[in-house]
Amino acid sequence: MDKYNVLLIGGGGREHSIAWKLGQSDKLGKLYTAPGNPGTAQFGENVSLDVQKFEDISDFVKEKKVELVIIGPEAPLVAGLTDYLEEKDIPVFGPQKSAAMLEGSKEFAKEFMTRHNIPTADFAVFDTYDFDDALKFIQTKDTYPIVLKADGLAGGKGVFICDNEDEVKERLLYIKKDSTLSEAAQRLVVEEFLEGEEASVFVISDGHTSHIIHNAQDHKRIGDGDTGLNTGGMGAYSPAPVLSSEILEQVKDEIIEPTITGMQLEEKAYFGILYVGLMITENGPKVVEYNCRFGDPECQVILPSLENDLLDLIIAATEQRLDEKSIQLDNQYRCCVVLTSEGYPGKYDKGKNITGLDNTAENAIIFHAGTSEKDGNILTNGGRVLNVVGSGNTLKEAIDHTYANVEKIHFDGCYYRKDIGAKGLKRIQS
Ligand code: AMP
Ligand code: GLY
Repeated sequence: MDKYNVLLIGGGGREHSIAWKLGQSDKLGKLYTAPGNPGTAQFGENVSLDVQKFEDISDFVKEKKVELVIIGPEAPLVAGLTDYLEEKDIPVFGPQKSAAMLEGSKEFAKEFMTRHNIPTADFAVFDTYDFDDALKFIQTKDTYPIVLKADGLAGGKGVFICDNEDEVKERLLYIKKDSTLSEAAQRLVVEEFLEGEEASVFVISDGHTSHIIHNAQDHKRIGDGDTGLNTGGMGAYSPAPVLSSEILEQVKDEIIEPTITGMQLEEKAYFGILYVGLMITENGPKVVEYNCRFGDPECQVILPSLENDLLDLIIAATEQRLDEKSIQLDNQYRCCVVLTSEGYPGKYDKGKNITGLDNTAENAIIFHAGTSEKDGNILTNGGRVLNVVGSGNTLKEAIDHTYANVEKIHFDGCYYRKDIGAKGLKRIQS
């Protein structure tokens, strides 16, 4: 086949960066994105499909002669969209439900790591109805901080780091009562707190062969200096200096290889993008979490560094031919600053007019996240609104290019962190 019509599922900054990268491929026929955003619309057609209605997706694929479905976010993967489409002989890129469990169930992920000797924090698992047992366990251990995690998908809102027993009691009560966590917190993972610096490694796997694409560091907290509430991600930079080549070797040998072979052994061959969230501790790298997709905003700093044709790589993965491929990177640093609506991750307004989007320089790319288009104007339409990605020969240059372009964009209530990449700079300079 010369050209592939593609349906991309998702509508955030991650999906704009995927659409932008697919748009550079000679192999791309027509691109549909569901639901997409004004950024993805530059590379094809946005379609309003309900991704929870699997049948609607397969009907659309048949009607539009789509030859490949690429799934961006975790929810449809964990819900089994890959399995559903595969049953209908529709080529799809993303793990099956049983493999997406690495993200969909923290209990499964922790027990999997134990079975395969993959380094991670010590843990114990409790049933919602046994929270008294969880408290007793924590009281007996008596070491703080301690980490409480809802087992299932909670959109980043199911992890609590507690500094003392009172906080543990308060959080346990909250987890039990909060209706938004009721499904995710049927089971509770209690975990040792890991000291160190976080970074993530992104892997593409065809179930047998896997390649590291690249690495990045996210900034999850809302405030400068990693303060305040957790968010989906306020910015990222790549590569992360904390991941020296020595540590990366260790990550490959002790974490990635055993994860891919472990999943094969358990007959849940991992096919798609694997996001390995790490804590680099004094005792080496340990897994904090697995995700079954690209990170957002990490994807936005990784794909611009990738010299390979992404569509060619994904097709090779769907045909189990990743052994024929190797990853080529451009050796530039990249930084991404997320512009958010004031109030995020809490309540925020929508519909603010955005100006300055056309003023960006050559060394920067703007990816849309929560935006909408009305009468030719771009408006805010979400908490995370835009991603500004700058590049440079050094991390400092990438950060400077990014912020110089951030300053050209305006909307009422625009908020962003001023220190994206600062941790990496400090490490390089020390
Ligand atoms: P998770 O959803 O498991 O990645 O947790 C969200 C965030 O909580 C992580 O990115 C870390 O910043 C923090 N976190 C989770 N588990 C631990 C841990 N065991 N030790 C220290 N920090 C953690
Ligand atoms: N940026 C964190 C995530 O995508 O889960």
